[in-house]
Amino acid sequence: MRDPQPGSPSAPAPPELTATALARITELAHREAGLHIPPAKAAMVRTRLIRRLRLLRCGDFDAYCDLVDSPAGRDELATMISSLTTNVSHFFRENHHFEVFRAKALPALIDAARGGRRVRIWSAGCSNGQEPYSIAMTMLEAGMPRDADVRVLGTDIDPNVVNFAKAAQYPGPMLANVPDHLRDRYFDPIDADPDGALAAGSALRDITRFRVLNLISAWPMRGQFDAIFCRNVVIYFDQPTQDRLWPRFARALNPDGWLFLGHSERVSEHAGRFFRSVGITAYERTSAEVPASTPELEPQ
Ligand SMILES: C[S@@+](CC[C@H](N)C(=O)[O-])C[C@H]1O[C@@H](n2cnc3c(N)ncnc32)[C@H](O)[C@@H]1O
Repeated sequence: MRDPQPGSPSAPAPPELTATALARITELAHREAGLHIPPAKAAMVRTRLIRRLRLLRCGDFDAYCDLVDSPAGRDELATMISSLTTNVSHFFRENHHFEVFRAKALPALIDAARGGRRVRIWSAGCSNGQEPYSIAMTMLEAGMPRDADVRVLGTDIDPNVVNFAKAAQYPGPMLANVPDHLRDRYFDPIDADPDGALAAGSALRDITRFRVLNLISAWPMRGQFDAIFCRNVVIYFDQPTQDRLWPRFARALNPDGWLFLGHSERVSEHAGRFFRSVGITAYERTSAEVPASTPELEPQ
């Protein structure tokens, strides 16, 4: 016999998200990923997680919380975090950053790369890859040599978006913001795809790398970066979590490195000495030293 379909007269009523379960979920999301989920988002939490409850045949949200809060539920906890994050992105989002990057940062970086120095850019919270590929196109268009020691690293907490970014196959609508001449130059048609999907070509793939990384955990990268794009990510964190990030970004940047944030994000005042504002949510690293190790710099 088939299960009753949700909404059919014999289907059980979908479970309610109790205040206790919401508190447990928001506490876990904060502890694991730094996410700040205000009570007003209860409906969003319920809608996004109810699919998980159905799939796992969990009778109610309390049972689901017991699962994700147990050692046996580590994988589901990661899935819960992925379900609660917002992955909206698009190519050349907040294009003014790419203009600042091209005009102010890239001339020196291109000279450095031509002289044999490594150049490293980090897209922290890269979602489906549109941001790192936009950075890569901006660099190549500005004259960055393809054979230089250049990498754009894209990281995200959500393995699904990291895998999507690695596969780099974009349906037509996702490419809407990519100008025609850049599509022609940097993307290849996918055989027999009727919807106009394109795949990032070798020029983009050669200089991009992707990894799963939780920003509030330890960062395994050894070298420093010339620019960090962390846009529309910290907006989902509470203030103490944001405050812990700024000095860590400062430490991860080369002297005179660049930091780009999303339109509603700002470096908090206490970290202002590490960054000078050079445009709308664009910052350049100052020479202020970041203490080698203080509790505020450590991962949560
Ligand atoms: C709205 S998207 C921003 C994508 C891109 N940076 C942009 O501006 O278009 C936010 C991304 O941050 C990621 N994210 C949220 N919390 C994170 C964390 N603790 N560590 C790493 N990435 C995180 C989400 O998975 C999501 O892909």
